[in-house]
Amino acid sequence: MRVLLFTGKGGVGKTSLAVATALGAAAHGHRVFVLSTDSAHSLGDALARDVGPTPVEVAPRVLAQEVAALAELDRSWSEIQEWLHGLLSSDTDEMVAEELLVFPGLEELVALRAVREVEARGDIDVCVVDCAPTGSTLRMLRLPDVLRLFMENFFDMKRRAVNAMRPVAQKLGAGRLFAPDSVFEAFERLYAEIEDVREILLDTGRTSARLVVNPARVVVDETRRSFAYLSLYGVATDAVLVNRVLPAEASTGYFARWAEREKSELAAIEESFPVPRFQAPLLAQEPIGVEALRRLADAVYGDRDPAERFTDARPIRLEKRDGRTRLEIDVPHAMQDEVEVLAHGEELLVRVRDAQRRISLPASVAGRSIESAKLDEGVLVVTFAA
Ligand SMILES: Nc1ncnc2c1ncn2[C@@H]1O[C@H](COP(=O)(O)OP(=O)(O)O)[C@@H](O)[C@H]1O
Ligand SMILES: [Mg+2]
Repeated sequence: MRVLLFTGKGGVGKTSLAVATALGAAAHGHRVFVLSTDSAHSLGDALARDVGPTPVEVAPRVLAQEVAALAELDRSWSEIQEWLHGLLSSDTDEMVAEELLVFPGLEELVALRAVREVEARGDIDVCVVDCAPTGSTLRMLRLPDVLRLFMENFFDMKRRAVNAMRPVAQKLGAGRLFAPDSVFEAFERLYAEIEDVREILLDTGRTSARLVVNPARVVVDETRRSFAYLSLYGVATDAVLVNRVLPAEASTGYFARWAEREKSELAAIEESFPVPRFQAPLLAQEPIGVEALRRLADAVYGDRDPAERFTDARPIRLEKRDGRTRLEIDVPHAMQDEVEVLAHGEELLVRVRDAQRRISLPASVAGRSIESAKLDEGVLVVTFAA
Protein backbone atom coordinates (compact mmCIF):
# COMPACT_ATOMS: atom_id res chain seq x y z
CA MET A 1 0.00 0.00 0.00
CA ARG A 2 1.29 3.40 -1.01
CA VAL A 3 1.36 6.01 1.79
CA LEU A 4 1.37 9.75 1.07
CA LEU A 5 1.95 12.13 3.97
CA PHE A 6 0.81 15.71 3.40
CA THR A 7 2.56 18.25 5.52
CA GLY A 8 3.54 21.92 5.44
CA LYS A 9 3.01 25.12 7.37
CA GLY A 10 -0.46 25.84 8.75
CA GLY A 11 -2.97 27.16 6.22
CA VAL A 12 -0.96 26.49 3.05
CA GLY A 13 -3.51 24.04 1.65
CA LYS A 14 -2.49 20.63 3.04
CA THR A 15 -6.04 19.40 3.57
CA SER A 16 -7.30 20.64 0.20
CA LEU A 17 -4.41 19.05 -1.67
CA ALA A 18 -4.54 15.82 0.34
CA VAL A 19 -8.19 15.33 -0.55
CA ALA A 20 -7.62 16.46 -4.15
CA THR A 21 -4.78 13.93 -4.44
CA ALA A 22 -7.00 11.18 -3.06
CA LEU A 23 -9.73 11.97 -5.58
CA GLY A 24 -7.18 12.18 -8.40
CA ALA A 25 -5.69 8.81 -7.45
CA ALA A 26 -9.17 7.27 -7.40
CA ALA A 27 -9.76 8.62 -10.90
CA HIS A 28 -6.69 6.57 -11.91
CA GLY A 29 -8.39 3.45 -10.60
CA HIS A 30 -6.82 3.20 -7.13
CA ARG A 31 -8.80 2.36 -4.05
CA VAL A 32 -7.98 5.23 -1.74
CA PHE A 33 -8.27 5.97 1.96
CA VAL A 34 -7.80 9.54 3.15
CA LEU A 35 -6.98 9.92 6.81
CA SER A 36 -6.61 13.03 8.92
CA THR A 37 -4.28 12.85 11.92
CA ASP A 38 -4.23 16.62 12.44
CA SER A 39 -6.15 17.23 15.65
CA ALA A 40 -7.67 20.27 13.90
CA HIS A 41 -9.57 18.01 11.51
CA SER A 42 -10.88 19.63 8.38
CA LEU A 43 -11.54 16.85 5.89
CA GLY A 44 -15.22 17.55 6.55
CA ASP A 45 -14.79 21.26 5.79
CA ALA A 46 -12.97 20.57 2.54
CA LEU A 47 -15.57 18.04 1.44
CA ALA A 48 -18.56 19.99 2.79
CA ARG A 49 -19.91 16.95 4.59
CA ASP A 50 -19.48 15.12 7.85
CA VAL A 51 -16.39 12.97 8.22
CA GLY A 52 -15.76 11.38 11.59
CA PRO A 53 -13.83 8.64 13.35
CA THR A 54 -15.64 5.91 11.38
CA PRO A 55 -14.63 5.61 7.72
CA VAL A 56 -17.17 7.01 5.23
CA GLU A 57 -17.25 6.77 1.46
CA VAL A 58 -16.97 10.31 0.12
CA ALA A 59 -16.65 9.44 -3.58
CA PRO A 60 -16.42 6.19 -5.57
CA ARG A 61 -13.33 4.28 -4.34
CA VAL A 62 -12.54 6.97 -1.74
CA LEU A 63 -12.99 6.47 2.01
CA ALA A 64 -12.30 9.20 4.56
CA GLN A 65 -11.71 9.17 8.30
CA GLU A 66 -10.70 11.67 10.96
CA VAL A 67 -8.72 9.87 13.64
CA ALA A 68 -9.60 10.69 17.23
CA ALA A 69 -6.04 10.82 18.55
CA LEU A 70 -6.94 11.22 22.17
CA ALA A 71 -9.29 8.30 22.09
CA GLU A 72 -6.52 6.35 20.40
CA LEU A 73 -4.25 6.95 23.35
CA ASP A 74 -5.41 3.78 24.92
CA ARG A 75 -5.07 2.02 28.20
CA SER A 76 -1.30 1.52 27.92
CA TRP A 77 -0.79 5.21 27.95
CA SER A 78 -3.19 5.99 30.78
CA GLU A 79 -1.47 3.40 32.91
CA ILE A 80 1.92 4.99 32.29
CA GLN A 81 0.52 8.44 32.82
CA GLU A 82 -1.12 7.55 36.09
CA TRP A 83 2.10 6.14 37.38
CA LEU A 84 4.09 9.20 36.26
CA HIS A 85 1.54 11.40 37.98
CA GLY A 86 1.92 9.52 41.22
CA LEU A 87 5.66 9.51 40.86
CA LEU A 88 6.00 13.17 40.17
CA SER A 89 3.22 14.79 42.11
CA SER A 90 5.28 14.78 45.27
CA ASP A 91 8.29 16.11 43.47
CA THR A 92 8.76 19.86 43.28
CA ASP A 93 9.86 19.79 39.66
CA GLU A 94 6.57 20.53 37.98
CA MET A 95 8.22 21.27 34.66
CA VAL A 96 9.76 17.86 34.35
CA ALA A 97 6.48 16.26 35.27
CA GLU A 98 4.61 18.16 32.61
CA GLU A 99 7.14 17.43 29.93
CA LEU A 100 7.06 13.74 30.62
CA LEU A 101 3.31 13.70 30.69
CA VAL A 102 2.91 15.49 27.41
CA PHE A 103 5.52 13.64 25.34
CA PRO A 104 5.39 16.00 22.38
CA GLY A 105 4.55 14.14 19.22
CA LEU A 106 2.95 11.16 20.91
CA GLU A 107 -0.57 12.08 19.93
CA GLU A 108 0.18 12.30 16.24
CA LEU A 109 2.25 9.17 16.25
CA VAL A 110 -0.51 7.27 17.96
CA ALA A 111 -2.98 8.69 15.44
CA LEU A 112 -0.79 7.31 12.69
CA ARG A 113 -1.41 3.81 13.95
CA ALA A 114 -4.56 4.23 11.91
CA VAL A 115 -2.39 3.77 8.80
CA ARG A 116 -1.66 0.24 9.96
CA GLU A 117 -5.35 -0.40 10.39
CA VAL A 118 -6.01 0.86 6.88
CA GLU A 119 -3.36 -1.50 5.58
CA ALA A 120 -4.83 -4.40 7.54
CA ARG A 121 -8.16 -3.95 5.70
CA GLY A 122 -6.41 -5.34 2.64
CA ASP A 123 -8.64 -3.49 0.15
CA ILE A 124 -6.77 -0.16 -0.12
CA ASP A 125 -4.06 0.76 -2.64
CA VAL A 126 -3.26 4.28 -1.50
CA CYS A 127 -3.47 5.86 1.94
CA VAL A 128 -3.33 9.66 1.89
CA VAL A 129 -2.60 11.23 5.28
CA ASP A 130 -3.48 14.83 6.08
CA CYS A 131 -0.87 15.45 8.79
CA ALA A 132 -0.51 18.17 11.39
CA PRO A 133 1.58 21.21 10.40
CA THR A 134 5.28 20.52 9.92
CA GLY A 135 6.29 21.49 13.46
CA SER A 136 4.24 18.71 15.02
CA THR A 137 5.11 16.28 12.27
CA LEU A 138 8.79 16.74 13.03
CA ARG A 139 8.24 16.39 16.76
CA MET A 140 6.43 13.20 15.99
CA LEU A 141 9.34 11.83 13.98
CA ARG A 142 11.73 12.59 16.80
CA LEU A 143 9.54 10.91 19.38
CA PRO A 144 10.68 7.31 18.87
CA ASP A 145 14.25 8.45 19.59
CA VAL A 146 13.17 10.31 22.70
CA LEU A 147 11.07 7.43 23.85
CA ARG A 148 13.90 5.00 23.31
CA LEU A 149 16.24 7.10 25.44
CA PHE A 150 13.59 7.33 28.09
CA MET A 151 12.99 3.60 28.04
CA GLU A 152 16.65 2.72 28.17
CA ASN A 153 17.04 4.87 31.22
CA PHE A 154 14.00 3.37 32.80
CA PHE A 155 15.08 -0.17 32.25
CA ASP A 156 18.54 0.65 33.39
CA MET A 157 17.02 2.19 36.41
CA LYS A 158 15.09 -0.95 37.06
CA ARG A 159 18.12 -3.12 36.77
CA ARG A 160 20.40 -0.90 38.79
CA ALA A 161 17.75 0.32 41.14
CA VAL A 162 19.02 -1.53 44.14
CA ASN A 163 22.41 0.15 44.01
CA ALA A 164 22.45 3.45 42.25
CA MET A 165 18.94 4.65 42.88
CA ARG A 166 18.66 3.79 46.53
CA PRO A 167 19.52 7.25 47.88
CA VAL A 168 17.08 8.94 45.52
CA ALA A 169 14.42 6.40 46.21
CA GLN A 170 14.81 6.98 49.90
CA LYS A 171 14.46 10.70 49.43
CA LEU A 172 11.26 10.33 47.46
CA GLY A 173 9.89 7.67 49.72
CA ALA A 174 10.56 3.97 49.37
CA GLY A 175 9.38 2.30 46.19
CA ARG A 176 8.51 5.50 44.37
CA LEU A 177 10.96 5.06 41.55
CA PHE A 178 10.20 1.45 40.94
CA ALA A 179 7.56 1.08 38.33
CA PRO A 180 5.27 -1.89 38.71
CA ASP A 181 5.65 -4.54 36.03
CA SER A 182 2.38 -3.50 34.46
CA VAL A 183 3.84 -0.07 33.72
CA PHE A 184 6.92 -1.53 32.09
CA GLU A 185 4.72 -3.77 30.03
CA ALA A 186 2.55 -0.83 29.02
CA PHE A 187 5.66 1.03 27.98
CA GLU A 188 6.92 -1.88 25.94
CA ARG A 189 3.58 -2.24 24.21
CA LEU A 190 3.42 1.43 23.31
CA TYR A 191 6.99 1.38 22.14
CA ALA A 192 6.42 -1.63 19.91
CA GLU A 193 3.41 0.00 18.29
CA ILE A 194 5.31 3.21 17.71
CA GLU A 195 8.15 1.26 16.14
CA ASP A 196 5.63 -0.28 13.76
CA VAL A 197 4.42 3.14 12.71
CA ARG A 198 7.96 4.36 12.33
CA GLU A 199 8.75 1.42 10.09
CA ILE A 200 5.99 2.49 7.72
CA LEU A 201 7.11 6.12 7.78
CA LEU A 202 10.68 5.24 6.95
CA ASP A 203 9.90 2.74 4.23
CA THR A 204 10.94 4.87 1.28
CA GLY A 205 9.72 2.16 -1.09
CA ARG A 206 6.12 2.96 -0.34
CA THR A 207 5.93 6.07 1.84
CA SER A 208 6.50 9.59 0.53
CA ALA A 209 6.02 12.98 2.09
CA ARG A 210 4.44 15.70 -0.03
CA LEU A 211 5.41 19.14 1.16
CA VAL A 212 2.89 21.87 0.49
CA VAL A 213 4.16 25.43 0.18
CA ASN A 214 2.88 28.82 -0.94
CA PRO A 215 5.07 31.11 -3.03
CA ALA A 216 5.70 33.44 -0.08
CA ARG A 217 9.00 34.13 1.64
CA VAL A 218 8.07 33.06 5.18
CA VAL A 219 6.55 29.84 3.99
CA VAL A 220 9.48 28.92 1.77
CA ASP A 221 12.04 29.62 4.50
CA GLU A 222 10.28 27.44 7.03
CA THR A 223 9.60 24.65 4.57
CA ARG A 224 13.20 24.52 3.47
CA ARG A 225 14.12 23.68 7.04
CA SER A 226 11.37 21.07 7.31
CA PHE A 227 12.58 19.46 4.14
CA ALA A 228 16.04 18.98 5.65
CA TYR A 229 14.61 17.61 8.89
CA LEU A 230 12.31 15.16 7.16
CA SER A 231 15.31 13.88 5.29
CA LEU A 232 17.40 13.68 8.45
CA TYR A 233 14.71 11.55 10.05
CA GLY A 234 14.71 9.31 7.00
CA VAL A 235 11.38 10.29 5.44
CA ALA A 236 11.56 10.67 1.67
CA THR A 237 9.87 13.69 0.12
CA ASP A 238 8.85 12.82 -3.43
CA ALA A 239 7.29 16.14 -4.46
CA VAL A 240 6.75 19.71 -3.40
CA LEU A 241 3.32 21.11 -4.20
CA VAL A 242 3.28 24.87 -4.70
CA ASN A 243 -0.22 26.04 -3.91
CA ARG A 244 -1.92 29.40 -4.65
CA VAL A 245 0.21 30.39 -7.62
CA LEU A 246 -1.20 33.56 -9.23
CA PRO A 247 -2.83 32.83 -12.59
CA ALA A 248 -1.28 34.26 -15.79
CA GLU A 249 -3.87 37.03 -16.07
CA ALA A 250 -2.51 38.55 -12.85
CA SER A 251 0.78 39.49 -14.52
CA THR A 252 -0.70 42.81 -15.65
CA GLY A 253 -2.92 45.27 -13.83
CA TYR A 254 -3.62 45.40 -10.13
CA PHE A 255 -1.74 42.20 -9.19
CA ALA A 256 1.29 42.83 -11.44
CA ARG A 257 3.61 43.67 -8.54
CA TRP A 258 2.52 40.58 -6.63
CA ALA A 259 3.11 38.47 -9.70
CA GLU A 260 6.58 39.95 -10.04
CA ARG A 261 7.42 39.09 -6.47
CA GLU A 262 6.02 35.65 -6.84
CA LYS A 263 8.40 34.96 -9.70
CA SER A 264 11.41 35.29 -7.42
CA GLU A 265 9.75 33.07 -4.80
CA LEU A 266 9.10 30.43 -7.43
CA ALA A 267 12.75 30.60 -8.42
CA ALA A 268 13.76 30.22 -4.77
CA ILE A 269 11.46 27.19 -4.48
CA GLU A 270 13.04 25.65 -7.54
CA GLU A 271 16.51 26.05 -6.02
CA SER A 272 15.51 24.94 -2.55
CA PHE A 273 13.78 21.64 -3.21
CA PRO A 274 15.67 19.12 -5.29
CA VAL A 275 12.55 17.03 -5.99
CA PRO A 276 9.79 17.30 -8.59
CA ARG A 277 7.51 20.29 -8.10
CA PHE A 278 3.87 20.71 -9.00
CA GLN A 279 1.80 23.87 -9.05
CA ALA A 280 -1.78 24.63 -8.07
CA PRO A 281 -3.28 27.96 -9.08
CA LEU A 282 -4.84 30.42 -6.67
CA LEU A 283 -8.50 29.81 -7.40
CA ALA A 284 -11.20 32.46 -7.60
CA GLN A 285 -12.95 30.69 -4.72
CA GLU A 286 -12.22 28.05 -2.09
CA PRO A 287 -12.03 24.55 -3.57
CA ILE A 288 -14.74 22.88 -1.53
CA GLY A 289 -16.54 19.67 -2.37
CA VAL A 290 -15.66 16.66 -4.51
CA GLU A 291 -16.05 18.36 -7.89
CA ALA A 292 -13.89 21.38 -7.09
CA LEU A 293 -11.19 19.23 -5.49
CA ARG A 294 -11.13 16.85 -8.43
CA ARG A 295 -10.55 19.81 -10.74
CA LEU A 296 -7.78 20.96 -8.41
CA ALA A 297 -6.13 17.53 -8.74
CA ASP A 298 -6.29 17.82 -12.54
CA ALA A 299 -4.70 21.26 -12.37
CA VAL A 300 -1.88 19.92 -10.17
CA TYR A 301 -1.07 16.53 -11.68
CA GLY A 302 -2.42 16.82 -15.24
CA ASP A 303 -2.47 13.32 -16.70
CA ARG A 304 -0.05 11.87 -14.20
CA ASP A 305 -1.13 9.42 -11.55
CA PRO A 306 -1.03 11.30 -8.22
CA ALA A 307 -0.05 8.06 -6.44
CA GLU A 308 3.14 7.70 -8.46
CA ARG A 309 6.49 7.92 -6.70
CA PHE A 310 7.87 11.02 -8.37
CA THR A 311 11.47 10.44 -7.37
CA ASP A 312 13.51 7.43 -6.25
CA ALA A 313 15.90 9.55 -4.23
CA ARG A 314 16.40 8.19 -0.71
CA PRO A 315 17.23 10.61 2.08
CA ILE A 316 19.72 8.28 3.80
CA ARG A 317 22.05 6.03 1.81
CA LEU A 318 24.71 3.59 2.80
CA GLU A 319 27.28 2.61 0.23
CA LYS A 320 30.75 1.20 -0.20
CA ARG A 321 33.31 3.20 -2.08
CA ASP A 322 37.05 2.49 -2.31
CA GLY A 323 36.72 -0.14 0.41
CA ARG A 324 35.24 2.36 2.84
CA THR A 325 31.63 2.48 4.01
CA ARG A 326 29.97 5.84 3.54
CA LEU A 327 26.70 7.02 4.96
CA GLU A 328 25.09 9.89 3.09
CA ILE A 329 22.29 12.00 4.47
CA ASP A 330 20.61 14.80 2.56
CA VAL A 331 20.54 17.93 4.67
CA PRO A 332 20.01 20.67 2.12
CA HIS A 333 20.93 24.19 3.22
CA ALA A 334 22.72 23.19 6.42
CA MET A 335 26.08 24.76 7.20
CA GLN A 336 29.13 22.75 8.30
CA ASP A 337 29.15 24.36 11.74
CA GLU A 338 25.48 23.46 12.26
CA VAL A 339 26.17 19.77 11.90
CA GLU A 340 27.58 17.46 14.54
CA VAL A 341 28.24 13.74 14.15
CA LEU A 342 29.15 11.22 16.81
CA ALA A 343 29.55 7.46 16.63
CA HIS A 344 28.07 5.85 19.69
CA GLY A 345 28.33 2.08 19.67
CA GLU A 346 25.71 0.78 17.27
CA GLU A 347 24.31 4.20 16.63
CA LEU A 348 25.26 7.36 14.89
CA LEU A 349 24.17 10.56 16.60
CA VAL A 350 23.57 13.32 14.08
CA ARG A 351 22.66 16.80 15.12
CA VAL A 352 21.60 19.46 12.63
CA ARG A 353 20.80 22.76 14.33
CA ASP A 354 18.25 21.92 17.00
CA ALA A 355 17.25 18.55 15.57
CA GLN A 356 18.94 15.37 16.70
CA ARG A 357 18.64 11.91 15.25
CA ARG A 358 19.94 8.54 16.37
CA ILE A 359 20.53 6.34 13.38
CA SER A 360 20.99 2.62 13.95
CA LEU A 361 24.05 1.43 12.09
CA PRO A 362 24.22 -1.88 10.25
CA ALA A 363 26.45 -4.54 11.81
CA SER A 364 29.15 -3.99 9.18
CA VAL A 365 30.00 -0.55 10.56
CA ALA A 366 28.65 -0.64 14.11
CA GLY A 367 31.43 0.13 16.55
CA ARG A 368 33.74 1.54 13.86
CA SER A 369 35.14 4.99 14.34
CA ILE A 370 34.30 7.86 12.06
CA GLU A 371 37.07 8.80 9.69
CA SER A 372 35.43 11.96 8.43
CA ALA A 373 32.11 13.76 8.40
CA LYS A 374 31.83 16.41 5.74
CA LEU A 375 29.08 18.49 4.29
CA ASP A 376 29.21 18.52 0.54
CA GLU A 377 26.57 20.51 -1.35
CA GLY A 378 23.77 19.71 1.04
CA VAL A 379 24.83 16.11 1.60
CA LEU A 380 26.39 15.01 4.86
CA VAL A 381 28.94 12.32 4.06
CA VAL A 382 30.11 10.20 6.98
CA THR A 383 33.00 7.89 6.19
CA PHE A 384 33.79 5.04 8.57
CA ALA A 385 37.27 3.75 9.24
CA ALA A 386 38.07 0.58 7.33
N1 LIG B 1 -5.45 26.93 -4.54
C1 LIG B 1 -6.33 27.51 -3.73
N2 LIG B 1 -7.08 28.56 -4.14
C2 LIG B 1 -7.98 29.16 -3.31
N3 LIG B 1 -8.22 28.75 -2.05
C3 LIG B 1 -7.52 27.71 -1.58
C4 LIG B 1 -6.55 27.02 -2.38
N4 LIG B 1 -6.02 26.00 -1.65
C5 LIG B 1 -6.63 26.06 -0.44
N5 LIG B 1 -7.55 27.07 -0.39
C6 LIG B 1 -8.38 27.46 0.77
O1 LIG B 1 -7.52 27.92 1.80
C7 LIG B 1 -7.97 27.53 3.08
C8 LIG B 1 -6.89 26.70 3.79
O2 LIG B 1 -6.68 25.49 3.09
P1 LIG B 1 -6.45 24.09 3.84
O3 LIG B 1 -6.37 23.06 2.78
O4 LIG B 1 -7.47 23.92 4.90
O5 LIG B 1 -5.02 24.37 4.47
P2 LIG B 1 -4.23 23.56 5.63
O6 LIG B 1 -4.81 22.19 5.69
O7 LIG B 1 -2.80 23.59 5.20
O8 LIG B 1 -4.44 24.33 6.89
C9 LIG B 1 -9.24 26.75 2.84
O9 LIG B 1 -10.32 27.60 3.02
C10 LIG B 1 -9.13 26.29 1.39
O10 LIG B 1 -10.41 26.11 0.79
MG1 LIG C 1 -5.69 21.18 7.34
